[in-house]
Amino acid sequence: MATEFTPRVFSGIQPSGGLTLGNYLGAIKRFVDMQAAEFETIYCMVDLHAITVWQDPGDLRKNTRELCAGFIASGIDPEQSILFNQSQVPEHTQLAWIFNTVARMGWLNRMTQFKDKAGKNRENSSVGLFAYPALMAADILVYHATHVPVGDDQKQHVELTRDIAAKFNHDYGVDFFPITEPVIEGAATRVMSLRDGSKKMSKSDPSDMSRINMTDDADAIAQKIRKARTDPDALPSEADGLKDRAEARNLVNIYAALDDSTVDQVLTDVGGKQFSEFKPMLADLAVAKLSPISGEMARLMGEQAEIDKILARGAERAREVAAPVLKKTYEIVGMVS
Ligand code: TRP
Repeated sequence: MATEFTPRVFSGIQPSGGLTLGNYLGAIKRFVDMQAAEFETIYCMVDLHAITVWQDPGDLRKNTRELCAGFIASGIDPEQSILFNQSQVPEHTQLAWIFNTVARMGWLNRMTQFKDKAGKNRENSSVGLFAYPALMAADILVYHATHVPVGDDQKQHVELTRDIAAKFNHDYGVDFFPITEPVIEGAATRVMSLRDGSKKMSKSDPSDMSRINMTDDADAIAQKIRKARTDPDALPSEADGLKDRAEARNLVNIYAALDDSTVDQVLTDVGGKQFSEFKPMLADLAVAKLSPISGEMARLMGEQAEIDKILARGAERAREVAAPVLKKTYEIVGMVS
């Protein structure tokens, strides 16, 4: 008989830069929705993942707190969900070590994110960047999480998590770790760069004009949307008409996601309009939806002690779940205690 696991959601975001519209629409907004469903929800600022590439310590601290403020301002309730930063829960790294002995070199060698991030500079990448997916598997499995909402680019890492769980269970003859399901975001919530519709909107893009930051004010949002790359054609009246128009599609996707409607519904209203008319509509909508969040974020960022207290309390609650799982793992592996 397969073990029944409690439906439990885990996901993480790296505090490696400011929070963008891409993080909000692609991740946090979905995390809020799952909080309302019949799951236990655990959301983590993965600071130990962030340092697999260089982070200035001051920036890392600021970005971790800003991310926490962003979660809360967007609707994550730190009472209902467990909200914390990874480094305060040592069970993650302890389980990651065990998983370093389970995962095979060949598995990690196939990870496309490592290849992309290391690029030609493989020999000079940190060992942590290579081992990153084993820590991610530990993040998930130290809570026996059953569901992980992630972007498409993280699907391979969740599959690796499943492989690690299955190999551990098989090698030790147990049915201890769940085989976690990835919950992949739809294309509609994948927000692309405002300068290049083939690239994901990213906090690490050198051009600030490529992204909307959750801390941008109304003028900055409007300017970035006005300058966003598009093509010269009018908007189509059906989604099909956006097929080979990555930048146009991105702006319509953003509109639909902010408006909680669908691309087809949006196009029913705006089909035939020029971008010169659509962009101000999008800017108004973005400002209306984002300014309450950025306002609340700014307020929270002024209450640093409050944020740190929330993170400490979240870490305490996280450890209550993680510690027994790690203890049992050590027992299974044969560690004397
Ligand atoms: N690798 C993820 C990203 O960069 C972040 C992450 C770390 C994560 N651990 C996780 C996501 C566990 C989901 C579950 O987006």
